[in-house]
Amino acid sequence: MTHTEPWLRIIEDARHYPSPHNSQPIKLRPVDSRAAEVYYDLDLGLPAESFGIPFGHVCAGVFLESLRTVAEGFGYGVAESLDHSEMDFGGTDRLHSLGTVTLTPQPVTEQAQERLQLFRARRTSRRPYDARLVPAEAIMAATEVANAGGHTFHTTSDRRTVRRLVHINQATLFSDLRKSAVYEEIMTWLRFSKEEARNRADGLSAEAMLMPGSLLRFAMTHRGLWEAPVIGGAIRAMYLNTMRGVRQLGWLEGPFGKPTDYVEAGRTFMKVWLELTAHGVWLHPFGTVITNPDSHRAFAREVAADESGDRMTWMLFRFGYSKTPPLAHRRPATSMLIGATS
Ligand SMILES: Cc1cc2nc3c(=O)[nH]c(=O)nc-3n(C[C@H](O)[C@H](O)[C@H](O)COP(=O)(O)O)c2cc1C
Repeated sequence: MTHTEPWLRIIEDARHYPSPHNSQPIKLRPVDSRAAEVYYDLDLGLPAESFGIPFGHVCAGVFLESLRTVAEGFGYGVAESLDHSEMDFGGTDRLHSLGTVTLTPQPVTEQAQERLQLFRARRTSRRPYDARLVPAEAIMAATEVANAGGHTFHTTSDRRTVRRLVHINQATLFSDLRKSAVYEEIMTWLRFSKEEARNRADGLSAEAMLMPGSLLRFAMTHRGLWEAPVIGGAIRAMYLNTMRGVRQLGWLEGPFGKPTDYVEAGRTFMKVWLELTAHGVWLHPFGTVITNPDSHRAFAREVAADESGDRMTWMLFRFGYSKTPPLAHRRPATSMLIGATS
């Protein structure tokens, strides 16, 4: 008996869910043709930063929404039975259980087909944007999606605030590289040549970051030089150059105190991302501004965020219009399946 279908067909699309550093940490173990166990592979996680672990759960939420979107496009509803325990990155068991998902056949609606197409079209755009403001109706639609998930979508097009937040994002990169654990972590995910990016089929490629690979490799292996006035200034200017035309930033705020919250936040983020995609808008998450505590503090202060109780501003991103960004590779669908018979 084979258990790989329909899982392999669904994963062929679902593996394109976005993940921080494109580390693709989610794994599925099909139980039969309807049920599968879902895991977070801790060896593919990013625990070095203080909010790296919550972001593991955010990524799980992003995946679950992606899975639902794909499954519905193929004619299946998805029931989830989730396990909301904390991730233990120090433990010997490297597969953290996220729970079980079960497929139920259902008719494919036109809306489900459209959403699957949006999912396939979505990419992160780190390209310069063209300075056009996203119309109010798109903002309203994203606001409604966030509200439905119990979160608030905020946006600003105030030039001073946008410039300030873009600088906080750039400074985060410099700050992260000063911390050895975070530096080591990012180095394992950088792909300097197109060939390496294609062969490994994961991680952050120089191409996706709009940098010549040799320059990125030199800059990353000489991080001390980033502190030097001339070279540091040149790297900063090059990075900020990719942010040309950014007129608008968005951020999401809401409950963010425990794994259930993080997963639901991730789900909401994915829905907002797809909604903006439906309006022809590209997005680039500034997740490291959240995971870096100093940057998060500076960001929260800049936007006077309400972080009372369990509430947090847990995602910041730029959004707008750009040329089509490069494709980020994915590992083959089979590498996402554990122990399936074929
Ligand atoms: C929760 C989350 C946080 C992210 N944070 C960042 C970030 O700080 N900087 C960045 O350049 N990309 C960030 N990304 C984008 C991922 O790097 C990107 O999704 C991944 O490389 C795959 O590329 P794709 O979105 O084009 O498919 C984030 C994505 C997610 C889901």
